[in-house]
Amino acid sequence: MRKPVIAGNWKMYKLLSEAVNTAVGLKPLVANANDCEIVIAPVFTALKTVADRLEGSNIRVSAQDCATQNEFGAHTGEIAPVMLKDAGCSHVIIGHSERRQFYGETDESVNKKTHATIAAGLVAIVCVGEHLSERESGNANSVVAEQLNTGLAGLTVADMERIIIAYEPVWAIGTGKTATPEQAQEMHAHIRQTVAASHGNDVANAVRILYGGSVKPDNIATLMSQTDVDGALVGGASLEVESFASIVNFK
Ligand code: 13P
Repeated sequence: MRKPVIAGNWKMYKLLSEAVNTAVGLKPLVANANDCEIVIAPVFTALKTVADRLEGSNIRVSAQDCATQNEFGAHTGEIAPVMLKDAGCSHVIIGHSERRQFYGETDESVNKKTHATIAAGLVAIVCVGEHLSERESGNANSVVAEQLNTGLAGLTVADMERIIIAYEPVWAIGTGKTATPEQAQEMHAHIRQTVAASHGNDVANAVRILYGGSVKPDNIATLMSQTDVDGALVGGASLEVESFASIVNFK
């Protein structure tokens, strides 16, 4: 059975004190959520402090991006996955649509970052998803398959144990428009088939596929009821302790 993952992507929100308060406030509210993995992704400057404050809890800490390599060098502004591990992270979100759209992320850089993240012993949350125009023109499946085939290229079966895939249709992010549970299921099944073709059935059956895009306390249960939806990557609703806790503790 695939253990569900509920991850909160805080994007570029919260000063350090706010990040710490949210993380510390979350701890008791999700302490009994034993049947799922809980991850939060604060900004870089809050990672170490938040990770320290969450030590011994059931909440893991993720970065929102990383460098394409672990070797130290002259790469101004970059942060290597080994440095994120050093700061207390266990996960890295890679290839979020906002990075693809506004910061030049490509499937090739996603692939390098994913390899570097795994080499550092971290879990990569690899994001894929189509734009509205791609869905409307009937190309959503091929766009997502290409993102996966290039993004996950060269990963071994053992590497794939450290991969979580997040399907985030770009048209559903921050818009209040959620994919219907049927749309999510259809794409998640397609993602699993794509992974089966590239990495085999065992890997495809084991890999967790999260849905992201306007996940809220009132739609998490129906999304999670879909066979191939193994969790959620939550943006806006992860910023408040109560709403994120009620997503984690969905019934
Ligand atoms: P929202 O939940 O705010 O739509 O954001 C989704 C997302 O981008 C998570 O990574």
